[in-house]
Amino acid sequence: MSDDHEIRVSPYLCAMLKSTLIKATEAGAKVMKEYFGGTFKISNKEGINNLVTEADHASEKAIFETIKNEFPDHFILSEESGALVTNSNIKWIVDPIDGTVNFAHGIPLCCVSIGVEESGEMLMGAVYNPLIDEFYFAQRGFGATLNDRRIFVSGETKVSRACLVTGFPYTYLDQPNGPLEVFSRLIRHGIPVRRLGSAAMDLCWVAAGRFDGFYEHKLQAWDSAAGFLIVEEAGGRVSNFRGSRYSPYQPHILATNGKIHEELLRWVNDEI
Ligand code: IPD
Ligand code: CA
Ligand code: CA
Repeated sequence: MSDDHEIRVSPYLCAMLKSTLIKATEAGAKVMKEYFGGTFKISNKEGINNLVTEADHASEKAIFETIKNEFPDHFILSEESGALVTNSNIKWIVDPIDGTVNFAHGIPLCCVSIGVEESGEMLMGAVYNPLIDEFYFAQRGFGATLNDRRIFVSGETKVSRACLVTGFPYTYLDQPNGPLEVFSRLIRHGIPVRRLGSAAMDLCWVAAGRFDGFYEHKLQAWDSAAGFLIVEEAGGRVSNFRGSRYSPYQPHILATNGKIHEELLRWVNDEI
């Protein structure tokens, strides 16, 4: 569990934030589930397969309504609408559908992900995939849960025996020591590296002990805001590629069970 941050939010406000976070995550997920497998408008962002659908916007709307109903002056940063800036010290970081390409193809690996930050520190996060009915939640200092049951990272100690997961950004693939080089290095050594297509699910599955580690280049704050806290609260470690403390505002992430962290950093940085 992460415990190095002094919690400055009153227990009463924490309880209100938790209740709104759960409601907002469920509201977005309900919309996502209604659209799933049906017909909806799909458009491209930059890059031919960087998609946004009608459902992303509808989920975002339902999430915004829920948050604004309870906390009209909070700051909201969301993938499809950008930043709704206020001077509140509480910021909601929203991905209305993480795994949109999966969603658009009827692949049930997609979710809603929302993190709540207080004065720059992630306070709580929720990730919900209603298609497989998995609701992940963590509050700093209180552990992580899947459907209300405590979860913990795996106990694997060697990268050579680990099962890993990664993702590939739409650009940046061929950078020196970029996504393709790191992936190729690992799989050439026979290390299984999966690719689910949802960074938030990847992180939650590390937290649940299904994967031993996850790394990805070039994520955005909304991809990892909730998931990184869920990993930390499940007993794992999350850092950037230099091994320093992770912030969702920096692009590269390494999240592990903690035991393979230093070794996986060397693999990712080509120091093996
Ligand atoms: C994407 C997913 C994917 C990751 C991409 C993200 P989106 O988010 O998290 O796993 O590899 O970098 O952009 O676009 O589906 O919300
Ligand atoms: Ca995303
Ligand atoms: Ca998204």
